[in-house]
Amino acid sequence: MSATLGSSIRRADFDYIRELLKEHSGVALEDGKEYLLEVRLSPLYAEMKVETIAEMVELLRRDQNAAMRERVLNSLLTNETYFFRDIHPFEVLRTEVLPELFAARAAKGHLRIWSGACSTGQEPYSIAMIVNDLLEKFPGFTVEIVATDIADENLERARAGKYCQAEVNRGLPAPMLIRHFTKKADIWEVNESIRRMVAFRKLNLFGSWSGIDRADLILLRNVLIYFEQDAKKKIIARMRRHVAEDGAFLLGASETVLGLSEEFHIVHSGKASLYRPKAAESMAVLGGVRR
Ligand SMILES: C[S@@+](CC[C@H](N)C(=O)[O-])C[C@H]1O[C@@H](n2cnc3c(N)ncnc32)[C@H](O)[C@@H]1O
Repeated sequence: MSATLGSSIRRADFDYIRELLKEHSGVALEDGKEYLLEVRLSPLYAEMKVETIAEMVELLRRDQNAAMRERVLNSLLTNETYFFRDIHPFEVLRTEVLPELFAARAAKGHLRIWSGACSTGQEPYSIAMIVNDLLEKFPGFTVEIVATDIADENLERARAGKYCQAEVNRGLPAPMLIRHFTKKADIWEVNESIRRMVAFRKLNLFGSWSGIDRADLILLRNVLIYFEQDAKKKIIARMRRHVAEDGAFLLGASETVLGLSEEFHIVHSGKASLYRPKAAESMAVLGGVRR
């Protein structure tokens, strides 16, 4: 009989799913996270006509249906997010980083922002609301916001721009809600003026980034924490090549480039930290937030 882990999940089944998940997304499921399998995969039981994780693994082994496999693996990813998450970085973006980038790009009249791992859209829409305000002071300027995620399910929700009361209650200031959302029954819909500012695309951080142009500002927040050290290093190195020399790069509040890359300066501003490519040290852009 094969070994079981605390709950009723067999070691071999846990290892099988863990391996698939890592191949699919780079996300490393640690020992002790067996409960996650049951919590996140049991909602798929009825659809897959199985009653246990063991039966699900058996089906995955037997049936190479790529869509089904992807659905199972995406269900294991953490997509926790909310509007203006951790607020401080958004304050720095609004008051310092974006105004300075706008000024630096005045001649070009164009700015590009990439939100990698955007989950269900709250992060890029938060940026879009800030940019929308700033654009009033920069008529004629265009700002492209590209938001990507590995999971079709998240992107579908993000594109729809529909959020329940509990979701808009998390982090979204009331004046922003009133101004940029319309309530239909018990759902709040992002207004078209904000929705059309964001282009959502599917992108696996470990896959091809073709079609994603170099950006002036990159947000890659709360996703590296799920990767192993080498994978984090690889993604940060790719990000360095994708951010403009005088641009800025943001990680989540509990994440850092320390120990992963020597290619960025850490810039502290108030309670937020952001990263700037080292080669950009002598440039004037963002000088205001350099400490
Ligand atoms: C915790 S959410 C973070 C959302 C948002 N950035 C924030 O900070 O609120 C992590 C997201 O990373 C996505 N993700 C996980 N692995 C990925 C990969 N290899 N490529 C792209 N996205 C990935 C998940 O689908 C999920 O939506």
